[in-house]
Amino acid sequence: MTDTTTRNALIAAARDAASRAYAPYSGFHVGAALLLKNGDVVTGANVENASYGLTLCAETAAVAKIANEGWIGELAEVAIVGGRPDGEALTGSDPVHPCGRCRQILNEAAERSQTDILVHCASGDDSAVATYKLSELLPAAFGPKDLGLID
Ligand code: THU
Repeated sequence: MTDTTTRNALIAAARDAASRAYAPYSGFHVGAALLLKNGDVVTGANVENASYGLTLCAETAAVAKIANEGWIGELAEVAIVGGRPDGEALTGSDPVHPCGRCRQILNEAAERSQTDILVHCASGDDSAVATYKLSELLPAAFGPKDLGLID
């Protein structure tokens, strides 16, 4: 999926997921949408915790969902949206990029999927999108290939 229409649909799915974030501490709502090779979309949102360091990021929640369904090798593309809610809308004009831990977790699924996935990073107010290959966000990654699980 590289055309604008489908990219925007993936961002819209991430935005919808962000509306279900549990983020009472930071007030920063993040949604992630994972496009699978068969066209299905699986989403996740951040889940915070009173013990702050236990927070789950949106991307991590979404990758856990596909892994638990047996689809970790089916990832094709990702969109991430984040911002602070103002009513129904998110605010913020800067694209939200995945944190370091999430880049590594996305890499696990990407290597298993044998795809250098595209990662669309969108701003809360939908004014900006930056698209990267995962290998740009996490160059020289350590992953399952290093443990002999991938050719
Ligand atoms: N967050 C994500 O969900 N994904 C990221 O890649 C970056 C940060 C969340 C974690 C926390 O709930 C909030 O954003 C503020 O850091």
